[in-house]
Amino acid sequence: MRRLRSSKLRPLVSETELDVKDLICPVFVDETITEPVEINSMPGCSRLPLDMIADEAECIADMGIPALILFGIPAEKDEMGTHAYGEDDVTQKAVRAIKKEAGNDIIVITDLCLCEYTSHGHCGVVNEAHEILNDPTLTILGKTAVSHARAGADIVAPSGMMDGMVKAIRSALDDNDFKDVPIMSYAAKYCSAFYGPFREAAGSGYAFGDRASYQMDIGNSDEAMREVALDIEEGADIIMVKPALPYLDVIYRVKKKFGMPTAAYHVSGEYAMIKAAAQNGWLDERRAVYESLLSIKRAGADMILTYFAKDVAKEIASK
Ligand code: PBG
Repeated sequence: MRRLRSSKLRPLVSETELDVKDLICPVFVDETITEPVEINSMPGCSRLPLDMIADEAECIADMGIPALILFGIPAEKDEMGTHAYGEDDVTQKAVRAIKKEAGNDIIVITDLCLCEYTSHGHCGVVNEAHEILNDPTLTILGKTAVSHARAGADIVAPSGMMDGMVKAIRSALDDNDFKDVPIMSYAAKYCSAFYGPFREAAGSGYAFGDRASYQMDIGNSDEAMREVALDIEEGADIIMVKPALPYLDVIYRVKKKFGMPTAAYHVSGEYAMIKAAAQNGWLDERRAVYESLLSIKRAGADMILTYFAKDVAKEIASK
């Protein structure tokens, strides 16, 4: 086996490659700030004010990264998440700003969930008994999807794990003449500890309970197949597994079984782990990032949402 491992022949037989075209860069836009605010638990990542968002999109596009995914942080939150879908709410404004400046240079994906917009921080409407209500949430998600599309979003990405969300969003988009806007569904999203830093980043920590009544049991992978099958049936164009590294087996199974365009989300906690270890000098950040993302690709992901997107793009460009 070692004959082909020489530095000369190694590239000839290499099987998996990480390309800048595989990357999707998350971006946090915060309506309440005028300067970037660093996210403590995600060194190197910041929330950006609205008026910096178009430049950020240009910068990402200039690096050759094909897409960004936008997370809006509103000035006001309420029980029903009403600032998720107003024409002049944060995500809609950010999309319009990016479209105006960076227009066709970058694909704008919008994260479509209520947890950044609700005062209780849950991904759906909640009743007095603190139950998260499925069907009333669907109507709001449909409205929100239409508002994103109207602002110019290229793809909407529902992440709230409500049953029937893809179908509700597809029909809302179709009914409003947005037949061409695809849905990237967070189809197999686990109830994971690795979202911790994101909740600081997006200010979406929840006031009570947890997300176990809608996000998946971490031990289940057959169930992921059923989730993905349902989302495809309901009209998902791209399906996602989240988090990525702890669920490589799920990525592998999903890609093998469905052969759909498959995304994997290398989440905030996965980012923070590498950053923290690297800051302590305990591992080589550059190599650890590359190995992590390459393994996600090797498992079968076609695209990776990662907070390392810009670092990796730079790295690839300098090779
Ligand atoms: C919103 C959403 C979350 C993430 C993406 N969209 C948080 C959650 O479900 O708690 C997590 C992303 C990350 O950790 O990087 N529903």
